[in-house]
Amino acid sequence: MSFSLESIGIKAGGKYETIYTTMNKAGEVDAAPIGLKCIDDYAVLARIFEGSKTLKNIKETGIFVVNITSDPHVFARSLYGNLEEEEFVRDGDIAYLKNTDAYFIALVKSIEDKEIDKDHVNDGAKFSIINAESLKIIINKQGAKALNRGIFAFLESLVDFSRIDIIDEEKKEEYINRFKENERLIDVVAEGELKEAMKDLKEKLIEKGLDL
Ligand SMILES: Cc1cc2nc3c(=O)[nH]c(=O)nc-3n(C[C@H](O)[C@H](O)[C@H](O)COP(=O)(O)O)c2cc1C
Repeated sequence: MSFSLESIGIKAGGKYETIYTTMNKAGEVDAAPIGLKCIDDYAVLARIFEGSKTLKNIKETGIFVVNITSDPHVFARSLYGNLEEEEFVRDGDIAYLKNTDAYFIALVKSIEDKEIDKDHVNDGAKFSIINAESLKIIINKQGAKALNRGIFAFLESLVDFSRIDIIDEEKKEEYINRFKENERLIDVVAEGELKEAMKDLKEKLIEKGLDL
């Protein structure tokens, strides 16, 4: 195969925010924001909660498309409802977004139905783990890169670090809580390099006297 997920910023171990486009057997198309975990050069994993059209369609057809975009309106509109029919491009048994920066086709290898035991949001929820193989990356925009929430959490923590010497004790408590939440998020979504950078930042904050 002549492509790699790294060419669109997707690295092993990282979790990225993307738009999945799926089709049901009747040919109806759906778009939704769904995370994508990268296992290696071609293997990807999705964790999708029961009740979404995306999961139903993937179970029906065994194929989906991962669209790479940083357009906030596309994320919001595909969450609040569906995108307009004319925003999709149909191509045989798949559909992708007309204005996406890049996309790839994901072929399902296995689906495992599970139930959450303990979680920071929804204990007891049912979800499926989809293991898939990425095929045929199409890049429409030079420099297209999948979004990773970790980098934003890290930047927020860096901004907090730059203000640490000028804030009062009460604000410090707020900063500690925010750092802990950013650290939790980075632990879940970031690949190795960013995790290392966050670890270094933690050391620096501890040197500044923060109880982390
Ligand atoms: C940035 C972002 C990432 C999301 N990632 C996931 C995910 O990985 N798994 C999931 O089940 N839901 C995820 N969601 C929630 C789904 O988008 C939401 O349940 C949506 O309504 C599903 O739409 P559908 O019924 O058209 O599939 C995410 C939402 C946002 C905003």
